[in-house]
Amino acid sequence: MNKINLSERALHAPASAIRKLVPFADKAKKRGLNVYHVNIGQPDLPTPEKIMNFIRSYPASTLEYAPSSGMSETVSAWAVFYKNKGASFSEEDIIVTAGGSEALSFAFFSVADPGDEIIVFEPFYTSYAIIAAMADINLKAITTRVENGFHLPDYKIIEKAISKKTKAIILCNPNNPTGTLYTEREVRLIVDLALKHNLYIISDEPYQEIVFDGLSLLPFSSFKKLLPQLIVTDSVSKRFNSCGARVGCLASKNKQIISASLKFAQARLSVATVDQLAVVPLLKNHSQYVGQVRKTYQSRRDTVIAELKKIPGVSLTPPQGAFYLIPELPINDSDKFAQFLLEKFQDKKETVMVAPATGFYKTAGLGKKEIRIAYVLNEKKLVRAVELLNLALKQYNH
Ligand SMILES: Cc1ncc(COP(=O)(O)O)c(C=O)c1O
Repeated sequence: MNKINLSERALHAPASAIRKLVPFADKAKKRGLNVYHVNIGQPDLPTPEKIMNFIRSYPASTLEYAPSSGMSETVSAWAVFYKNKGASFSEEDIIVTAGGSEALSFAFFSVADPGDEIIVFEPFYTSYAIIAAMADINLKAITTRVENGFHLPDYKIIEKAISKKTKAIILCNPNNPTGTLYTEREVRLIVDLALKHNLYIISDEPYQEIVFDGLSLLPFSSFKKLLPQLIVTDSVSKRFNSCGARVGCLASKNKQIISASLKFAQARLSVATVDQLAVVPLLKNHSQYVGQVRKTYQSRRDTVIAELKKIPGVSLTPPQGAFYLIPELPINDSDKFAQFLLEKFQDKKETVMVAPATGFYKTAGLGKKEIRIAYVLNEKKLVRAVELLNLALKQYNH
């Protein structure tokens, strides 16, 4: 039999930057090392009891399919969530998805054809690139830089990147992987560009309540004129420490987007029934829970930054949201350094796993001096994780 080739898409889809070091971490663990994971955004905080108790005591005798658009209780809970935030999405504007990830896929597939472009600011969340590759969409990456806290470049620079093929701009505020909280001015700038050039905005919002220093965020949904062009992708994962629940949503006032997304949703039939129902009480009363989450991450951010500042040659701008930061380190190849941490380095049978920032850039050669730290461990562990980083850097640069 002749060899049957894979599709170009399958061959060229990028591997997840976050997961490609996993085999090295597994080997380190087999060698008996304790690995501090600051490489992935898996919060260590407990899932709310309300969610866990619901799952433990789910009474039904058959686990049925849910409606493709979501269980009515969950759709209505998302609508309450947005109402409480002052956003005007109602039940008919919402489709429940398997995490924010599926909402992103539906948004990309709804707005862009093969060869079309979506503008993104690099470094960016890696899944954007993989989802774009699945649909032969080109991501047009505009670079942001560590020196100014990864804030957006000027209007003119962004405008220059817009072509006839551009269909949307995606922005995650506050941002993964940088932790950057975009200012009102930056949000307005994106809104102005979208309105002027008739582009969709895909607003990726899983971290929206995790904002520090008493600051607040200007949501895209507050711009009435923008609403027909706005697609929100959202999730319970981070705000409720429920990544494994796999419940998110796509919200849009644009009826065509909702009906296209519903067709995609019908192909996967449904999101897990129990999980959808379990998160309802949290969605209906999110502010009660997220206040503590925000406080915890702000304190962790302060700890990580204080420890990183003790390391010679490290530079960073303190981020103001989410639970990530990207420092620049005195290294020349962050992939090699991350591998070194797992393969060659140990201190008292411990090491640390980080995400090399190269995987968050589209432009080859960028991110080689940067790593992403997810501060998803308690402060004692974070102090040790940064200490390990410091010790490793001394060995690595020797
Ligand atoms: C920026 C961003 N968007 C979307 C997601 C999707 O998360 P989930 O599918 O768990 O909702 C994540 C997860 O890390 C993320 O960081």
